[in-house]
Amino acid sequence: MAGSDRLIDAARQARDNAVADFSHFKVGAALETDTGEIVTGCNVENATYGLTVCAERVAIFKALSEGKRSFKRIAVVADTASPTPPCGACRQIIWEFCGDVEVVIANLTEIKRTMRMNELLPLPFDKRLL
Ligand code: THU
Repeated sequence: MAGSDRLIDAARQARDNAVADFSHFKVGAALETDTGEIVTGCNVENATYGLTVCAERVAIFKALSEGKRSFKRIAVVADTASPTPPCGACRQIIWEFCGDVEVVIANLTEIKRTMRMNELLPLPFDKRLL
């Protein structure tokens, strides 16, 4: 699937800012709001390893901190031949704050896969269960 749109381009650019000195695995994410604004994130690693924050969560927390609450799509970009889907922790956060959004998984040249969150997290735990 060839592919480039504004959202994927933004995720590719954000990936350039990744702080990935330990894994050297750079990831970029871009979140599209309901009004078409784009908020980006990159993964940020540190010496503890465990305090690493993925690109997806950086983008979501940035957007929430700017008062944005409604989202349509999230793009995730890594330089890999096979798709790099969001990790389990990110799936939970994407689900809770973005809902059943479209997740576009791309690399530097093409879209590898497009899925919805209900496929990536089919039996979610969320506030409806509290
Ligand atoms: N990572 C992301 O930022 N998003 C993903 O979807 C997968 C993994 C990061 C975390 C860590 O900095 C590096 O990639 C290797 O796991």
